[in-house]
Amino acid sequence: MAKERTLTILKPDCVRKNLIGEVTRRIQEAGFSIVAMKMTRLTKDTAGGFYAVHKERPFFGELVEFMSSGPCVPMILEKENAVADFRKLIGATNPAEADKGTIRADFADSLGENIIHGSDSVENGKIEAAYFFTESDVVANKA
Ligand code: RTP
Ligand code: MG
Repeated sequence: MAKERTLTILKPDCVRKNLIGEVTRRIQEAGFSIVAMKMTRLTKDTAGGFYAVHKERPFFGELVEFMSSGPCVPMILEKENAVADFRKLIGATNPAEADKGTIRADFADSLGENIIHGSDSVENGKIEAAYFFTESDVVANKA
């Protein structure tokens, strides 16, 4: 199977709870290579653009407020079958419904504050990665 890339964000609640290290450890232990990483803070505009697919949903305002409420840590991850495997590692959107041992089940407080983002397709992962990184930020391309 070919290597794939996915985009993750350790969300502001992950940063506030001092879980950057623990969550990153789990990601690496599951076999994902981190090929780009930074700490940044989304503006409301950028957060709204990132989640534009949800702009008509009733939770959109809260989502934008939360995602721009503090620093976050986006990363590009690489692995075979990265998109689907990463969604399995993080668990269901609602932590109350997430499988035991997943990142959201173990660390998230609520549906709105669920610790971590994972792309839902390779195509969307590329679009999402462009919010944070250029190709020259990807270490695998620099060697
Ligand atoms: P994400 O994009 O952050 O990885 O989350 P996801 O794919 O598991 O879920 P998605 O449907 O894309 O929703 C994006 C984020 O919106 C919040 N949400 N709130 N109140 C609600 O009914 C509701 N539904 C979704 C969640 O924080 C979710 O992560
Ligand atoms: Mg999503």
